[in-house]
Amino acid sequence: MMAISVGGAGDAGTDEALRGNDAAMTTALVPAAFGGGLEHREVPRAEPGMGEVLVEVAASGVNPLDLKIRDGGAAHARVNVLAVLGIDLAGTVVAVGAGAGGFAVGDEVYGMAGGVGGLPGTLARQVVVDIDLLARKPARLTMVQAAALPLALVTAWEGLVDRAEVGPGQTVLVHGGAGGVGHIAVQLAVARGARVFAMGTGASLEVIRGLGAEPIDYRATSVTDYVASATGGAGSTSCSTRSAGPRWTHRSRRSGGTPGGS
Ligand SMILES: NC(=O)c1ccc[n+]([C@@H]2O[C@H](COP(=O)([O-])OP(=O)(O)OC[C@H]3O[C@@H](n4cnc5c(N)ncnc54)[C@H](OP(=O)(O)O)[C@@H]3O)[C@@H](O)[C@H]2O)c1
Repeated sequence: MMAISVGGAGDAGTDEALRGNDAAMTTALVPAAFGGGLEHREVPRAEPGMGEVLVEVAASGVNPLDLKIRDGGAAHARVNVLAVLGIDLAGTVVAVGAGAGGFAVGDEVYGMAGGVGGLPGTLARQVVVDIDLLARKPARLTMVQAAALPLALVTAWEGLVDRAEVGPGQTVLVHGGAGGVGHIAVQLAVARGARVFAMGTGASLEVIRGLGAEPIDYRATSVTDYVASATGGAGSTSCSTRSAGPRWTHRSRRSGGTPGGS
């Protein structure tokens, strides 16, 4: 996962097929076809409606899901070509719709704002966003840092907090502990008082240690062997953030529970 500052329009082309009658326009990165690159284009943008604000995008996060959508491998995201991609953003509110009074022009915000299911994406200069998908950006985070967080943080939170209810006294194993989701999962589990192990290799091992977990080199040790020796056979709550996608398994051999989750 990474975040990029939204740069200049470059040599943006104008796609007449995308231009509506008197529609306001913005510049966006758009896939001309699935599997290809992204092109700068001028695209229409809506005015903020009920419960929406218009955000001037400062930075947009790029996650594996964005790449899968671009490559045509994420039918569940319901995105068609010529749609603007991009799920995460950080930016500044520049217009406020009716019923969005909790936000004001000039507010710095971040969120998981669109780019799936027909919502306009965040790889654009401006995007209209439902206020339920936004939060105020903490002042201590830069725009780029904030744009890197939403989807990865929500993924880690859903698994560790909502599903596994990780807390003090538990042992957690994070696969891919230095990755986009994994490095947040490690910090969440540590903050919630768990004993945390995390898999990585090479330079990732020091990153994992620096985040407060015990690193395990997945090239040198099998997960089964390490978990068994580290927990005396008790097992752990396991957060998998490898390339097959996050999978949450809450397992306790002591209680006789069976692997589950997904
Ligand atoms: N990013 C998101 O917001 C998000 C949201 C939902 C779902 N997902 C899914 O979650 C998965 C991970 O995404 P990500 O953004 O976190 O990717 P990522 O940044 O590439 O992290 C993947 C991590 O997996 C580690 N890894 C690779 N092979 C491993 C192995 N054999 N055993 C243990 N760890 C291994 C890598 O560690 P080393 O570098 O040390 O090799 C790397 O840090 C992807 O399938 C993605 O589609 C991501």
